[in-house]
Amino acid sequence: MTVLVTGGAGYIGAHVVRLLLERGTSVVVVDDLSTGRPDRIADAPLVRADLVADGVVDTLAGTMREHQVDAVIHIAAKKQVGESARRPAWYYRQNVGGTANLLQAMEQAEVHRMMFSSSAATYGLPDVPDGALIDEDARPAPISPYGETKLVCEWMIRAAGLAWGLRSVNLRYFNVAGSGWPELGDPGVFNLIPLVLQALSTGGQPMIFGEDYATPDGTCIRDYVHVLDLADAHLAALDYLDRDERPHDVFNVGTGAGASVRDVLAQIAASTPFDLQPKITDRRPGDPATLVADVRRIADVLGWRATRDLPAIVDSSWLAWQHAPGRP
Ligand code: UFG
Repeated sequence: MTVLVTGGAGYIGAHVVRLLLERGTSVVVVDDLSTGRPDRIADAPLVRADLVADGVVDTLAGTMREHQVDAVIHIAAKKQVGESARRPAWYYRQNVGGTANLLQAMEQAEVHRMMFSSSAATYGLPDVPDGALIDEDARPAPISPYGETKLVCEWMIRAAGLAWGLRSVNLRYFNVAGSGWPELGDPGVFNLIPLVLQALSTGGQPMIFGEDYATPDGTCIRDYVHVLDLADAHLAALDYLDRDERPHDVFNVGTGAGASVRDVLAQIAASTPFDLQPKITDRRPGDPATLVADVRRIADVLGWRATRDLPAIVDSSWLAWQHAPGRP
């Protein structure tokens, strides 16, 4: 079996590629290397391509034929919520346009299986009672252009299923963190754990964006899922596409348990040598108080569940942080 992984040289993609290679699956990576790095994918063949470049549909279809690709794992995307609010058209072009090109290439090359990286950002400010888990049947209502692009891609993929028989699994990632190997850490410093590690290792003060939420300690609660567990979920999705005929499925990928910002900071204090004195700031606009996945569907249908806890996530983030060149 050969799997084409878009974004395979990035943080999440590289974990997926490594697990695929470890289990003996052939992999072709398509990545524009805008944030990805070729040293993350061992000797897997790399096609350097931006999914919205001129002529990319033919390039992709040619790659699929040449390598006899059986399935596509589509991870490549722009993923910063704040940036998406500043550059919405660019986000639509890259994420929606890129997915459209990929689907056209798959149709041309007759590749009928796809795993798509979607996001809990499709839920927006979820309409569930305080503290309730969110399941996949909740009405999607994204509040950022980033979340909108992920939802539009889910729709486009579903439509391809109806039109030409694409079978797809859409994984809605919750808060992905940690690293499976120190050299595969998240190079971006945009999320809570990397931002706190950066502040601490440069003598700065970590920030808590609001402590007056309707949660037990007043800080926001999220569902932090270890990137290696997430990568495992991709393999489970591929196996499912192999054995099931259903055209289109959506699954949350989380742990089903929430941690508050204060819980995460306490774990960072336990996992690192730093003395942690956070600064409380105003709320960040658009943050729901609680966003925790109901993970029953992925457990029932794919047989996947997260096995790594918050200490494992933070310990591995800290190891990877120390490993990254140029960081203290
Ligand atoms: N936070 C702080 N201080 C910081 C950084 C973050 O208090 O310095 C808080 C945020 O307010 C939020 C929590 O930590 O309550 C987590 O924030 P992140 O920015 O790490 O993650 P988000 O939950 O905002 O977003 C993540 C992904 C998005 C995805 C979203 C889906 O980064 O890509 O989950 O819900 F869209």
